[in-house]
Amino acid sequence: MVEVAGRAVGSKGEASVAGNTPITTSGRTAPLLSVRDLKVHFPGRGGWWTRRSVIRAVDGVSFDIRAGETLGLVGESGCGKSTTARAIVGLVRPTSGEVWLNGARIDGLSDAAMRPHRATVQMIFQDPFASLNPRLTVGATITEPMTILGLHSPKDRQFEALRLMRLVGLDPRFLNRYPHEFSGGQRQRVGIARALAVQPKLIVCDEPISALDVSIQAQVINLLMDLQQKLGLAYLFIAHDLAVVRHIARRVGVMYLGRIVEMADSSELFAHPRHPYSEALLSAAPLPDPARERVRQRIVLEGEVPSPDRVYAGCPFADRCRRVESDCRATPPRLEGGNHQVACFHADS
Ligand SMILES: Nc1ncnc2c1ncn2[C@@H]1O[C@H](COP(=O)(O)OP(=O)(O)O)[C@@H](O)[C@H]1O
Ligand SMILES: [Mg+2]
Repeated sequence: MVEVAGRAVGSKGEASVAGNTPITTSGRTAPLLSVRDLKVHFPGRGGWWTRRSVIRAVDGVSFDIRAGETLGLVGESGCGKSTTARAIVGLVRPTSGEVWLNGARIDGLSDAAMRPHRATVQMIFQDPFASLNPRLTVGATITEPMTILGLHSPKDRQFEALRLMRLVGLDPRFLNRYPHEFSGGQRQRVGIARALAVQPKLIVCDEPISALDVSIQAQVINLLMDLQQKLGLAYLFIAHDLAVVRHIARRVGVMYLGRIVEMADSSELFAHPRHPYSEALLSAAPLPDPARERVRQRIVLEGEVPSPDRVYAGCPFADRCRRVESDCRATPPRLEGGNHQVACFHADS
Protein backbone atom coordinates (compact mmCIF):
# COMPACT_ATOMS: atom_id res chain seq x y z
CA MET A 1 0.00 0.00 0.00
CA VAL A 2 2.89 2.23 0.85
CA GLU A 3 4.41 1.60 -2.57
CA VAL A 4 1.08 2.16 -4.28
CA ALA A 5 0.70 5.54 -2.63
CA GLY A 6 4.13 6.53 -3.84
CA ARG A 7 3.39 5.59 -7.43
CA ALA A 8 -0.33 6.24 -7.62
CA VAL A 9 0.19 9.66 -9.14
CA GLY A 10 1.82 10.03 -12.53
CA SER A 11 3.15 6.52 -12.84
CA LYS A 12 4.41 7.25 -16.35
CA GLY A 13 7.31 9.22 -15.01
CA GLU A 14 6.32 12.43 -16.72
CA ALA A 15 8.13 14.81 -14.42
CA SER A 16 10.60 16.74 -16.51
CA VAL A 17 13.74 17.57 -14.64
CA ALA A 18 16.16 18.39 -17.40
CA GLY A 19 18.23 21.46 -16.68
CA ASN A 20 16.72 24.05 -18.93
CA THR A 21 13.79 22.36 -20.64
CA PRO A 22 10.79 24.59 -21.25
CA ILE A 23 8.34 24.61 -18.39
CA THR A 24 5.33 23.65 -20.45
CA THR A 25 5.30 20.99 -23.10
CA SER A 26 2.28 21.03 -25.35
CA GLY A 27 -0.63 18.86 -24.37
CA ARG A 28 0.42 18.60 -20.75
CA THR A 29 -0.52 20.63 -17.77
CA ALA A 30 2.26 22.80 -16.39
CA PRO A 31 3.97 21.55 -13.27
CA LEU A 32 2.71 22.90 -9.97
CA LEU A 33 6.26 23.90 -9.04
CA SER A 34 9.18 24.56 -11.34
CA VAL A 35 12.61 25.36 -10.01
CA ARG A 36 15.11 26.49 -12.65
CA ASP A 37 18.85 26.80 -12.06
CA LEU A 38 18.28 28.05 -8.52
CA LYS A 39 21.31 29.54 -6.79
CA VAL A 40 21.49 30.82 -3.25
CA HIS A 41 24.88 32.21 -2.25
CA PHE A 42 25.72 33.69 1.14
CA PRO A 43 28.62 35.96 2.05
CA GLY A 44 31.26 33.83 3.75
CA ARG A 45 34.22 34.60 5.95
CA GLY A 46 36.83 37.10 4.96
CA GLY A 47 37.55 40.75 5.42
CA TRP A 48 39.23 43.69 3.78
CA TRP A 49 42.59 41.90 3.76
CA THR A 50 41.38 38.85 1.83
CA ARG A 51 38.75 38.42 -0.79
CA ARG A 52 35.49 37.59 0.91
CA SER A 53 34.51 33.97 0.24
CA VAL A 54 31.10 32.99 -1.10
CA ILE A 55 29.10 30.13 0.39
CA ARG A 56 27.38 28.39 -2.49
CA ALA A 57 24.59 26.82 -0.42
CA VAL A 58 22.49 26.10 -3.52
CA ASP A 59 24.36 26.17 -6.80
CA GLY A 60 22.15 25.48 -9.81
CA VAL A 61 19.24 23.27 -8.83
CA SER A 62 16.38 22.48 -11.25
CA PHE A 63 13.33 20.26 -10.81
CA ASP A 64 9.56 20.10 -11.34
CA ILE A 65 6.80 18.84 -9.09
CA ARG A 66 3.38 18.04 -10.52
CA ALA A 67 0.09 18.27 -8.65
CA GLY A 68 -0.36 15.38 -6.26
CA GLU A 69 3.23 14.16 -6.69
CA THR A 70 6.04 13.76 -4.17
CA LEU A 71 9.63 14.62 -4.97
CA GLY A 72 12.21 13.48 -2.43
CA LEU A 73 15.42 15.44 -1.89
CA VAL A 74 18.22 13.73 0.00
CA GLY A 75 21.83 14.40 0.92
CA GLU A 76 24.18 14.86 3.85
CA SER A 77 23.80 17.70 6.29
CA GLY A 78 24.98 21.00 4.81
CA CYS A 79 24.34 20.12 1.14
CA GLY A 80 21.73 22.84 0.74
CA LYS A 81 18.40 21.07 1.25
CA SER A 82 16.94 23.56 3.72
CA THR A 83 18.17 26.55 1.74
CA THR A 84 16.46 25.14 -1.37
CA ALA A 85 13.25 24.73 0.64
CA ARG A 86 13.48 28.22 2.12
CA ALA A 87 14.10 29.79 -1.28
CA ILE A 88 11.00 28.09 -2.69
CA VAL A 89 8.66 29.37 0.04
CA GLY A 90 10.22 32.84 -0.02
CA LEU A 91 12.07 32.72 3.31
CA VAL A 92 15.37 33.42 1.59
CA ARG A 93 15.99 35.41 -1.59
CA PRO A 94 17.64 33.44 -4.41
CA THR A 95 20.86 34.85 -5.86
CA SER A 96 19.70 33.75 -9.32
CA GLY A 97 17.41 31.28 -11.01
CA GLU A 98 13.65 31.02 -11.12
CA VAL A 99 10.87 29.56 -9.00
CA TRP A 100 7.48 29.14 -10.68
CA LEU A 101 4.34 28.20 -8.79
CA ASN A 102 1.20 27.39 -10.75
CA GLY A 103 2.52 29.32 -13.73
CA ALA A 104 3.48 32.44 -11.71
CA ARG A 105 7.04 33.45 -11.03
CA ILE A 106 7.49 33.80 -7.25
CA ASP A 107 11.22 34.18 -6.61
CA GLY A 108 12.29 37.54 -5.22
CA LEU A 109 8.73 38.69 -4.42
CA SER A 110 8.10 41.08 -1.53
CA ASP A 111 6.19 39.71 1.47
CA ALA A 112 3.02 41.42 0.28
CA ALA A 113 3.37 40.09 -3.26
CA MET A 114 4.11 36.60 -1.92
CA ARG A 115 1.01 36.59 0.28
CA PRO A 116 -1.50 35.21 -2.26
CA HIS A 117 0.91 32.35 -3.03
CA ARG A 118 1.09 31.37 0.63
CA ALA A 119 -2.27 29.68 0.20
CA THR A 120 -0.71 27.43 -2.45
CA VAL A 121 2.60 26.51 -0.84
CA GLN A 122 3.20 25.84 2.84
CA MET A 123 6.13 24.45 4.77
CA ILE A 124 6.56 22.12 7.72
CA PHE A 125 9.79 22.15 9.65
CA GLN A 126 12.21 19.70 11.16
CA ASP A 127 11.93 20.74 14.78
CA PRO A 128 8.33 20.74 16.01
CA PHE A 129 9.60 22.15 19.32
CA ALA A 130 11.16 25.25 17.81
CA SER A 131 8.70 25.89 14.99
CA LEU A 132 5.55 26.41 17.09
CA ASN A 133 4.95 29.64 19.01
CA PRO A 134 4.87 28.57 22.69
CA ARG A 135 2.45 31.37 23.57
CA LEU A 136 -0.25 30.27 21.11
CA THR A 137 -2.78 27.54 21.87
CA VAL A 138 -3.21 24.78 19.32
CA GLY A 139 -6.41 26.47 18.15
CA ALA A 140 -4.70 29.82 17.70
CA THR A 141 -1.73 28.17 15.97
CA ILE A 142 -3.99 26.54 13.41
CA THR A 143 -6.29 29.54 12.83
CA GLU A 144 -3.50 32.13 12.56
CA PRO A 145 -2.71 31.49 8.85
CA MET A 146 -6.45 31.69 8.05
CA THR A 147 -6.64 35.05 9.82
CA ILE A 148 -3.58 36.38 8.00
CA LEU A 149 -5.00 35.38 4.62
CA GLY A 150 -8.55 36.45 5.58
CA LEU A 151 -10.06 33.00 5.09
CA HIS A 152 -13.43 32.15 6.71
CA SER A 153 -15.34 34.08 9.36
CA PRO A 154 -13.90 34.04 12.91
CA LYS A 155 -16.48 31.46 13.98
CA ASP A 156 -15.85 29.24 10.99
CA ARG A 157 -12.12 29.35 11.72
CA GLN A 158 -12.80 27.58 15.00
CA PHE A 159 -14.77 24.89 13.19
CA GLU A 160 -12.00 24.58 10.65
CA ALA A 161 -9.43 24.18 13.41
CA LEU A 162 -11.48 21.38 14.96
CA ARG A 163 -11.92 19.69 11.59
CA LEU A 164 -8.20 19.91 10.86
CA MET A 165 -7.30 18.52 14.29
CA ARG A 166 -9.45 15.47 13.59
CA LEU A 167 -7.94 15.18 10.12
CA VAL A 168 -4.39 14.98 11.50
CA GLY A 169 -5.35 12.66 14.35
CA LEU A 170 -5.40 15.13 17.25
CA ASP A 171 -8.15 15.06 19.86
CA PRO A 172 -10.25 18.23 19.28
CA ARG A 173 -10.54 18.63 23.04
CA PHE A 174 -6.91 19.80 22.99
CA LEU A 175 -7.92 22.98 21.11
CA ASN A 176 -6.99 25.29 24.00
CA ARG A 177 -3.79 23.56 25.07
CA TYR A 178 -0.27 24.86 24.51
CA PRO A 179 2.56 23.24 22.52
CA HIS A 180 4.58 22.32 25.63
CA GLU A 181 1.78 19.97 26.70
CA PHE A 182 2.36 17.78 23.64
CA SER A 183 4.86 15.15 22.54
CA GLY A 184 7.08 15.72 19.51
CA GLY A 185 4.82 13.63 17.26
CA GLN A 186 1.72 15.53 18.38
CA ARG A 187 3.45 18.86 17.83
CA GLN A 188 4.36 17.83 14.32
CA ARG A 189 0.66 17.03 13.78
CA VAL A 190 -0.15 20.56 14.95
CA GLY A 191 2.40 21.88 12.44
CA ILE A 192 0.78 19.83 9.69
CA ALA A 193 -2.72 21.07 10.65
CA ARG A 194 -1.42 24.66 10.54
CA ALA A 195 0.07 24.09 7.10
CA LEU A 196 -3.24 22.62 5.90
CA ALA A 197 -5.25 25.55 7.27
CA VAL A 198 -4.95 27.54 4.03
CA GLN A 199 -5.70 24.54 1.79
CA PRO A 200 -2.34 24.44 0.05
CA LYS A 201 -1.55 22.40 -3.05
CA LEU A 202 2.11 21.91 -2.16
CA ILE A 203 3.76 21.34 1.20
CA VAL A 204 7.52 21.65 1.51
CA CYS A 205 8.48 19.18 4.26
CA ASP A 206 11.98 19.89 5.59
CA GLU A 207 13.08 16.74 7.43
CA PRO A 208 9.71 16.54 9.18
CA ILE A 209 10.53 13.36 11.07
CA SER A 210 14.26 13.70 11.78
CA ALA A 211 13.70 15.12 15.26
CA LEU A 212 11.10 12.50 16.24
CA ASP A 213 11.47 9.16 18.02
CA VAL A 214 11.86 6.29 15.57
CA SER A 215 8.60 4.78 16.85
CA ILE A 216 6.72 7.97 15.92
CA GLN A 217 8.37 8.54 12.53
CA ALA A 218 6.31 5.97 10.62
CA GLN A 219 3.08 7.41 12.04
CA VAL A 220 3.88 10.87 10.71
CA ILE A 221 4.93 9.47 7.30
CA ASN A 222 1.71 7.47 7.11
CA LEU A 223 -0.29 10.56 8.05
CA LEU A 224 1.38 12.58 5.28
CA MET A 225 0.70 9.85 2.71
CA ASP A 226 -2.89 9.53 3.91
CA LEU A 227 -3.41 13.30 3.59
CA GLN A 228 -1.91 13.21 0.11
CA GLN A 229 -4.48 10.62 -0.97
CA LYS A 230 -7.38 12.51 0.60
CA LEU A 231 -6.42 16.03 -0.46
CA GLY A 232 -4.34 15.51 -3.61
CA LEU A 233 -1.37 17.32 -2.06
CA ALA A 234 2.06 17.53 -3.64
CA TYR A 235 5.13 17.33 -1.42
CA LEU A 236 8.74 18.33 -1.65
CA PHE A 237 9.98 15.89 0.94
CA ILE A 238 13.46 16.51 2.32
CA ALA A 239 15.40 13.92 4.29
CA HIS A 240 18.97 12.90 4.95
CA ASP A 241 17.82 9.31 5.36
CA LEU A 242 17.29 7.63 2.01
CA ALA A 243 15.14 4.91 3.52
CA VAL A 244 12.53 7.50 4.43
CA VAL A 245 12.01 8.96 0.96
CA ARG A 246 11.95 5.57 -0.70
CA HIS A 247 8.34 4.99 0.30
CA ILE A 248 6.92 8.47 0.14
CA ALA A 249 8.55 9.86 -3.00
CA ARG A 250 7.84 8.92 -6.60
CA ARG A 251 10.98 10.67 -7.75
CA VAL A 252 14.13 11.35 -5.78
CA GLY A 253 16.93 13.86 -6.25
CA VAL A 254 20.29 13.34 -4.55
CA MET A 255 22.05 16.56 -3.53
CA TYR A 256 25.75 17.16 -3.02
CA LEU A 257 27.29 20.57 -2.29
CA GLY A 258 24.37 22.60 -3.53
CA ARG A 259 23.71 20.56 -6.68
CA ILE A 260 21.54 17.64 -7.68
CA VAL A 261 23.95 14.89 -8.75
CA GLU A 262 21.36 12.22 -9.55
CA MET A 263 17.61 12.23 -10.16
CA ALA A 264 15.43 9.24 -10.95
CA ASP A 265 12.21 7.46 -10.08
CA SER A 266 12.50 6.20 -6.53
CA SER A 267 12.36 2.49 -7.42
CA GLU A 268 14.94 2.97 -10.19
CA LEU A 269 17.32 4.96 -7.99
CA PHE A 270 17.22 2.34 -5.25
CA ALA A 271 17.71 -0.53 -7.66
CA HIS A 272 20.39 1.12 -9.83
CA PRO A 273 22.12 4.10 -8.28
CA ARG A 274 24.53 5.46 -10.91
CA HIS A 275 26.40 8.28 -9.19
CA PRO A 276 29.23 7.12 -6.88
CA TYR A 277 27.86 9.40 -4.16
CA SER A 278 24.35 7.87 -4.38
CA GLU A 279 25.93 4.40 -4.30
CA ALA A 280 27.74 5.28 -1.08
CA LEU A 281 24.62 6.81 0.50
CA LEU A 282 22.59 3.74 -0.42
CA SER A 283 25.20 1.33 0.80
CA ALA A 284 24.95 2.95 4.23
CA ALA A 285 21.19 2.42 4.46
CA PRO A 286 20.16 -0.86 6.10
CA LEU A 287 18.30 -3.31 3.85
CA PRO A 288 14.94 -4.70 4.93
CA ASP A 289 15.88 -8.21 3.74
CA PRO A 290 18.15 -9.83 6.40
CA ALA A 291 19.85 -12.13 3.87
CA ARG A 292 20.83 -9.18 1.66
CA GLU A 293 21.67 -7.10 4.72
CA ARG A 294 24.26 -9.72 5.80
CA VAL A 295 26.13 -9.66 2.51
CA ARG A 296 25.78 -6.00 1.61
CA GLN A 297 28.96 -4.09 0.96
CA ARG A 298 29.31 -0.75 2.60
CA ILE A 299 31.09 1.93 0.65
CA VAL A 300 32.68 4.17 3.22
CA LEU A 301 32.75 7.80 2.19
CA GLU A 302 36.06 9.26 3.16
CA GLY A 303 36.43 12.81 4.31
CA GLU A 304 33.88 15.36 5.43
CA VAL A 305 31.40 17.20 3.25
CA PRO A 306 33.75 19.87 1.91
CA SER A 307 33.09 23.50 2.58
CA PRO A 308 30.63 25.12 0.16
CA ASP A 309 32.86 28.19 -0.09
CA ARG A 310 35.46 26.38 -2.18
CA VAL A 311 35.49 26.87 -5.93
CA TYR A 312 35.81 23.67 -7.96
CA ALA A 313 37.24 23.50 -11.44
CA GLY A 314 35.87 20.00 -11.90
CA CYS A 315 33.50 17.66 -10.07
CA PRO A 316 32.97 18.75 -6.43
CA PHE A 317 32.77 15.09 -5.37
CA ALA A 318 36.14 14.15 -6.91
CA ASP A 319 38.09 14.26 -3.62
CA ARG A 320 35.85 11.64 -2.03
CA CYS A 321 35.10 9.56 -5.11
CA ARG A 322 36.32 6.01 -5.55
CA ARG A 323 35.96 6.26 -9.32
CA VAL A 324 37.80 9.53 -9.79
CA GLU A 325 39.91 9.98 -12.93
CA SER A 326 41.93 12.90 -14.22
CA ASP A 327 39.11 14.33 -16.39
CA CYS A 328 36.93 14.70 -13.27
CA ARG A 329 39.10 17.57 -12.06
CA ALA A 330 39.05 19.49 -15.32
CA THR A 331 35.37 20.35 -15.95
CA PRO A 332 32.27 19.94 -13.80
CA PRO A 333 29.89 17.21 -15.02
CA ARG A 334 26.35 18.33 -15.89
CA LEU A 335 23.16 16.58 -14.81
CA GLU A 336 22.20 14.69 -17.97
CA GLY A 337 20.09 11.80 -19.15
CA GLY A 338 16.45 11.01 -19.83
CA ASN A 339 14.31 9.86 -16.96
CA HIS A 340 17.34 8.80 -14.93
CA GLN A 341 19.74 11.73 -14.80
CA VAL A 342 23.22 11.72 -13.40
CA ALA A 343 26.05 14.26 -13.17
CA CYS A 344 29.15 12.06 -13.49
CA PHE A 345 31.66 11.30 -16.27
CA HIS A 346 32.13 7.75 -15.00
CA ALA A 347 28.62 6.90 -13.84
CA ASP A 348 27.58 3.30 -13.53
CA SER A 349 25.70 2.42 -16.75
N1 LIG B 1 21.96 32.26 6.35
C1 LIG B 1 23.10 31.64 6.05
N2 LIG B 1 24.28 32.31 6.01
C2 LIG B 1 25.44 31.70 5.68
N3 LIG B 1 25.54 30.38 5.39
C3 LIG B 1 24.40 29.65 5.42
C4 LIG B 1 23.14 30.23 5.75
N4 LIG B 1 22.19 29.25 5.68
C5 LIG B 1 22.82 28.12 5.33
N5 LIG B 1 24.15 28.36 5.18
C6 LIG B 1 25.18 27.38 4.77
O1 LIG B 1 24.74 26.83 3.55
C7 LIG B 1 25.04 25.44 3.48
C8 LIG B 1 23.76 24.65 3.26
O2 LIG B 1 22.96 24.71 4.42
P1 LIG B 1 21.53 24.01 4.51
O3 LIG B 1 20.71 24.45 3.36
O4 LIG B 1 20.99 24.28 5.87
O5 LIG B 1 21.89 22.47 4.35
P2 LIG B 1 21.06 21.16 4.76
O6 LIG B 1 19.65 21.56 5.02
O7 LIG B 1 21.21 20.24 3.58
O8 LIG B 1 21.73 20.61 5.97
C9 LIG B 1 25.75 25.12 4.78
O9 LIG B 1 27.12 25.18 4.57
C10 LIG B 1 25.29 26.21 5.72
O10 LIG B 1 26.24 26.45 6.73
MG1 LIG C 1 18.45 21.23 6.71
